[in-house]
Amino acid sequence: MTTPTTDTVRAALRDAVATSLRAPSEHNAQPWRWVLASDHLDLHIDRGRRLPFTDERGHGVLLGCGCALHHLRVALADRGWHARVRHQPENPDEPEGRPLARVRIRPAEGGVDKDVHQQAAAIDRRHTDRRRFSSRSVPPDVLGALGDAARPFGGVLHVAFGAHRALFAEAMREAAERQPEQEGYAAELYRWTHRYAGARDGIPAAARLEGPPPSYRDLVLRWFPRGTLRQPHGGMDHEDASMLAILTAVDEEPVSVLRAGESLSAVLLEATALGLATTPITQVLEVAETRERLRHLVVGAHRAPVVALRIGWPSERGDPLHPTPRRPLDHVLTEVD
Ligand SMILES: Cc1cc2nc3c(=O)[nH]c(=O)nc-3n(C[C@H](O)[C@H](O)[C@H](O)COP(=O)(O)O)c2cc1C
Repeated sequence: MTTPTTDTVRAALRDAVATSLRAPSEHNAQPWRWVLASDHLDLHIDRGRRLPFTDERGHGVLLGCGCALHHLRVALADRGWHARVRHQPENPDEPEGRPLARVRIRPAEGGVDKDVHQQAAAIDRRHTDRRRFSSRSVPPDVLGALGDAARPFGGVLHVAFGAHRALFAEAMREAAERQPEQEGYAAELYRWTHRYAGARDGIPAAARLEGPPPSYRDLVLRWFPRGTLRQPHGGMDHEDASMLAILTAVDEEPVSVLRAGESLSAVLLEATALGLATTPITQVLEVAETRERLRHLVVGAHRAPVVALRIGWPSERGDPLHPTPRRPLDHVLTEVD
């Protein structure tokens, strides 16, 4: 096999960063920054894009960066590259500081895996869906496939049933009531839902529901300022058969939360490939009291819950969702050397 030139490697990494821009992030803040050098690519947090009042502990930022890193991995694998990712490598003499991850690539041996190809095809089709889902329940083997997708990056997907589901839903309701009272939260929400003209970030009106705050069966979701997204025609909120799950990390070390972000991306892309609709939800983990309750009553003290997920079949009577905006590549990627 011939060794690819530096230009070929750089072009492959640049293209994969362009694909990774579609990754989800809290409030669509897109808190990532990439630095491309001659033989490697570094991922950094864009510190100006943190949500200090919503995401006090900085987990949302790490999860968003983890999603971008996983999207990048999928894009590379789909184009025949093997990526070697080192999380938090030392970077003593570079002005950018220590990256979250460093990626090096070489041509992969063998063909592209069918699953990778399906995940790559799901990148543009995945959208956060805050509408009512259908009344069809999600079978155990499908939930099992989502759990399998999470595992290579250290994440475990716990689906909540029965009494656990009731406790989980109660914690979500309480978090939805309490978080808006926390200092600075409402201003931050306003800032990321009312962007200046030409901004290519934040949550646009087309992704926010037009009606009152969403509440499906026992589930109360994060409230966003009223938008233009319509519920599917017909159907009632009590018919929504969403499953409620929580993704946990090994612990709360930044590298574990970053890797859980990779698991989150893997679950979301797998779900999209299987035709499911998803809503990632961190609100219940951003209020200290509901987070601790979830940890003790639903998950168990040995794992760290990092993001909740609502998963279900989309209603057949809903309009297609529009993609939310993303910043252009040259705002996100710096090339050095
Ligand atoms: C870590 C994380 C936390 C999120 N938390 C919520 C949430 O609590 N409620 C919600 O409706 N959406 C939540 N989202 C979805 C984002 O708002 C969404 O990804 C972003 O607006 C981009 O839109 P898209 O997913 O349709 O591409 C979250 C996403 C991530 C990655």
